[in-house]
Amino acid sequence: SREAHLSSILDTVPDAMVVIDRKGIVLSFSKAAEKLFGLSSDQICGRNVSNLMPNPYRDAHDGYIDHYIETGEKRIIGYGRVVTGQRADGSQFPMELHVGETTVNGEQIFTGFVRDLTSRFKIEEDLRQAQ
Ligand code: HEM
Repeated sequence: SREAHLSSILDTVPDAMVVIDRKGIVLSFSKAAEKLFGLSSDQICGRNVSNLMPNPYRDAHDGYIDHYIETGEKRIIGYGRVVTGQRADGSQFPMELHVGETTVNGEQIFTGFVRDLTSRFKIEEDLRQAQ
């Protein structure tokens, strides 16, 4: 199918990629995302993207999307931001998030690109300790 073909392309992208609809429901989850968050695509697709983050973001995230849809004010789209992600085992990690927006078959969707910053933060911490 076309869907399977697209996911097989996404699986070749080294950065984790998450696609959501305007309600925050995960539509697609790449192989790198499965590895990073410790969740299979089957486990997260159909559930809210807020499951990938700790509170207070988790409870607020639907509101962030609603606020954007109502006002058009971008806080992450087009800028990117370092935020905190949460794996299936509850552990948290720093991640760089880039969000894009597009329309597929008349439906507004958001594409999130996630880069794990754990090792970069670790190197910076080691450098600080060494000073
Ligand atoms: C907005 C957190 C993942 C889509 C936001 C905001 C925060 C946030 C703090 C802006 C709130 C504000 O300043 O008003 C997080 C965290 C994530 C995460 C901690 C960790 C997993 C994602 C992913 C996507 C996404 C993977 C898309 C696939 C959006 C959208 C908005 C938003 C569409 C509103 C537009 C904007 O502010 O530019 N998120 N987010 N988020 N997020 Fe997330």
